[in-house]
Amino acid sequence: MLNWKIENRTKIWGPLLCLLIFNISGQINATELERGKYLTAAGGCMACHTALEKGATPYAGGHALKTPFGIFYTPNITPDVETGIGGWQKSEFLAALKQGIRPDGSHYFPAFPYPSYTQMTDEDALSIFAYLKSLDPVVRKNRDHDVSAPFSWRWLQWGWKLLFFSDKPYSPSQGATTEEQRGGYLTNALGHCAECHTPRNVLGGMVTDGAFSGVTKTDTIGEVPNITPDVKTGIGDWSLGDIVSFLETGMKPDFDDVQGNMEEVILYGTSKLTAEDRAAMAAYLKSLPAIQHKTSK
Ligand code: HEC
Ligand code: HEC
Repeated sequence: MLNWKIENRTKIWGPLLCLLIFNISGQINATELERGKYLTAAGGCMACHTALEKGATPYAGGHALKTPFGIFYTPNITPDVETGIGGWQKSEFLAALKQGIRPDGSHYFPAFPYPSYTQMTDEDALSIFAYLKSLDPVVRKNRDHDVSAPFSWRWLQWGWKLLFFSDKPYSPSQGATTEEQRGGYLTNALGHCAECHTPRNVLGGMVTDGAFSGVTKTDTIGEVPNITPDVKTGIGDWSLGDIVSFLETGMKPDFDDVQGNMEEVILYGTSKLTAEDRAAMAAYLKSLPAIQHKTSK
């Protein structure tokens, strides 16, 4: 009698339970993917991993990046097994994004801003991986970089890392408000804003005590403005609202439209964020030490 009852109960509850578990796990996946999509936008991955030709498939690579060392072509990061990252394990993705190490153990060039992404939490990095894995696989073979020796030597990147790379999680400065901390994480670990806005030495290492103070125009690289709150040479005279609306629409306080690379940063990145996150980034930029550094002649 007792046995009969239990059997019947499991007959009823078994399928119900399955339904429940299925539903919950479905929900977790959807939320995880939404989260991954958001973080991928915050990381600005699409801007670099999409070719510039009209109609180019997002994330399938082939975007030419001009640097003082030559031209780098971004790889395909759609989940195609042969030509993309479809066969990658989580550990390989983390090693690439946070350590600059390829699945074969050799080094990536820092044209891939892993020195910034290293500050990301593993959880956020893996959400991005889950999102990329959910995209349609696209067959597109990677193109070799046009960089001449010795800058083209992957093994030399080992020395570069020794000099300029440290794999530390993002740590806010003392006394930062919760909003500035969130903004600092978004700006540094995801938005990699310093990669362009911080001056570099001749070997391409960031000059950290000049953080966010901009770069003067050279033959190969255009001017990148000083975004520290210095009134004369930076954006000290921009209000919080000015920065927020610039990151949303690309319109400057003097009604000029954004130009160059920054346009993509806004289009594929900061314009996709919540108003709250843009405000956090603006608060963080306002909290930086003002550095006097004129970037225009
Ligand atoms: C500033 C441009 C730039 C941005 C932004 C960028 N990447 Fe890349 N990425 C590169 C370049 C260049 C390489 C190739 C580096 C090399 O060959 O050493 C690369 C390589 C990779 C690889 C290795 C692929 C392979 O086949 O070996 C992965 C994975 C990757 N990027 C993911 C991402 C993700 C995820 C983001 C956003 C969080 C991102 N990238 C943002 C430029 C960029
Ligand atoms: C790929 C390089 C690159 C990256 C990455 C980048 N910027 Fe920029 N940024 C530029 C360039 C170039 C300009 C100048 C655009 C112009 O003249 O219209 C600019 C302009 C700006 C300005 C306007 C400054 C002024 O005085 O006109 C602000 C503010 C700014 N960037 C903030 C950011 C933030 C925040 C991030 C990170 C989310 C970021 N940038 C990432 C290249 C970059």
